[in-house]
Amino acid sequence: MYIWFTIIAGLAILPVILKTLLDPYFGQDCSYMFKALKLGIRMAKYKKKKPFYSILDCFLDSVKKHPNKTFLHFEGASYTYIEVDKQSNKVARALQTFAKLKEGDTVALFLGNDPCYVWTWMGLAKLGCAAALLNFNIRSKSLLHCFSCCGAKVIIAAAEMKEALEEVLPTLKLQGISVYLLSEECDVEGIQPLAKHIAQASDEPLSADLRADITIRSPALYIYTSGTTGLPKAALVTHERVWAASFIQVVSGVTSEDVLYINLPLYHSAGFLVGLTGAIERGITVVLKRKFSASQFWEDCRKHNVTVIQYIGETMRYLCNTPKKENEKDHKVRIAIGNGVRSDIWTDFLKRFGDIAIRELYAATEGNIGFINYTSKIGVVGRVNFLHRRMFPYTLIKFDIEKEEPVRNSDGLCIEAAKGESGLLVGKITKFSPFVGYAGNNQQTEKKRLRDVLQKGDLYFNTGDLLRIDEQNFVQFQDRVGDTFRWKGENVATTEVADILTMVDCIEEANVYGVKVEGHEGRIGMAAVKIREGREFDGANTFSQVTSYLPAYARPRFIRIQSSFEMTGTFKMKKVSLVEEGFNPATVHDPLYFLSEKTYIPLTEEIYTSINNRKIKL
Ligand SMILES: *[C@@H]1O[C@H](CO)[C@@H](O)[C@H](O)[C@H]1NC(C)=O
Ligand SMILES: *[C@@H]1O[C@H](CO)[C@@H](O)[C@H](O)[C@H]1NC(C)=O
Repeated sequence: MYIWFTIIAGLAILPVILKTLLDPYFGQDCSYMFKALKLGIRMAKYKKKKPFYSILDCFLDSVKKHPNKTFLHFEGASYTYIEVDKQSNKVARALQTFAKLKEGDTVALFLGNDPCYVWTWMGLAKLGCAAALLNFNIRSKSLLHCFSCCGAKVIIAAAEMKEALEEVLPTLKLQGISVYLLSEECDVEGIQPLAKHIAQASDEPLSADLRADITIRSPALYIYTSGTTGLPKAALVTHERVWAASFIQVVSGVTSEDVLYINLPLYHSAGFLVGLTGAIERGITVVLKRKFSASQFWEDCRKHNVTVIQYIGETMRYLCNTPKKENEKDHKVRIAIGNGVRSDIWTDFLKRFGDIAIRELYAATEGNIGFINYTSKIGVVGRVNFLHRRMFPYTLIKFDIEKEEPVRNSDGLCIEAAKGESGLLVGKITKFSPFVGYAGNNQQTEKKRLRDVLQKGDLYFNTGDLLRIDEQNFVQFQDRVGDTFRWKGENVATTEVADILTMVDCIEEANVYGVKVEGHEGRIGMAAVKIREGREFDGANTFSQVTSYLPAYARPRFIRIQSSFEMTGTFKMKKVSLVEEGFNPATVHDPLYFLSEKTYIPLTEEIYTSINNRKIKL
């Protein structure tokens, strides 16, 4: 009886098995699933372990195992595992004494890429404190906003950030914030220099009791994202998240022998989580760079025997744009991990720089769903995998770009996008794929939640990204939706830029969006503005406003003067047609301006041509 049953059941699923076996990617699918399962088991172990085993404990184990292995190379200096450990002990002790920090406190870091970023964060982790990673490009209003939304009472900044701090100091003082500068001296009242205290502190290990109450669900970091609406938000990154992100290197095939090159900013999850914590998980050597340089890139890789690099679409393109050289394939790089590279650049890159396995991934800092390209298919971010989808249920739903909302049927439910059709990626919020939200911002957290997606009462995380799944189950990234665009690897929130623009006297209203430029990744900022009655557009004033309040990547490079704005049915300003019309003075009949060195100047056909043939650098 039983035997019959299994045979019949077996026959019934035979077509499924055959189909899977015939799939050319079956082997890779399995190997990925196997790795994922192993990591799942490891995570489950960490969850149960008491006291909790964090990425810091993993680092401390490496220190025991190979104290004299180089952990960091930076601008000609190198630091071993034990040296970084000791340095972080000193930082922790200085902060314990002077800033009275204790378990559960949050501290904002306002630093550029530098080894002290690593040991300052580690020092905080040793005290059981969470670190908020401020983007060092932000200033004034934005800086204050980012700082206050993580609930920190202390800010630690690099010496070169002194002026940026002075600008916001009166407000920080009012809020009773302690401000520390990593310098020997500081002549500004209210900013305390910390370097001497660190130098004089003992480098003896600190007791793990100091962080005994930290669990896998405690906040480890706050990382800022521009999400899809409003000012930047502090995404809460729990210790569980840190572990999960650090596994990306494992899944990508990085081993303990590899050398990783980090040239992305440490305040983003790519640099900090995928790069730094991933390197700690593997116990490897990191070559840290202050910032990306296309001309030094391969030199650095050769000099340090780099085997793994990180990229974003832009950096790949810059590398492909460098003049060709003889020895381009002469390096040891074998894996590249990153996101946002387009197929044409991807192909170009491999042709020029040799056989490098590109691990393109898709993930949002705060999101609950991610993909990684684990097959050798060009131009995709990942693949629909049975196990992955079971553990992290997600779907693509039809999206109305004009109304900026999902399409719903007569029952009020969303409609799944067909194969090959682009749709909004949403990930079901479950115990295994939680969405912890943004610090101190329930309203924004709520906005990223989408209800009644496939069934009444269900709950999904809205990624704000359009993706496409093709016939062969490969996942491709299409575009961002809503109120952000990406430029130079940074997300820009249009409402934040609009707020800054409308502070200019002559501007009554602003509608900000991103436009495509030939030969560039992402979209560059553009604003349609309505001028106040009886006024004229004041280029110089607008220029000084945007340059003093916005980081370079967020400034609108083009301005289009309109006498009125078109609105959608729900009273949002229409953007889609503006985005499509772009900034070509031959086809756009409104007055156009271009942000040049000192002011906004009228955008002529000549300027337009120079931008397109890249005589003018953007
Ligand atoms: C790089 O590798 C070569 C050969 O494997 C070795 O001779 C050299 O010392 C290595 N350089 C560094 C900085 O590790
Ligand atoms: C992702 O695609 C590239 C492109 O060919 C390939 O070289 C790489 O090996 C793929 N990733 C993985 C994990 O295999």
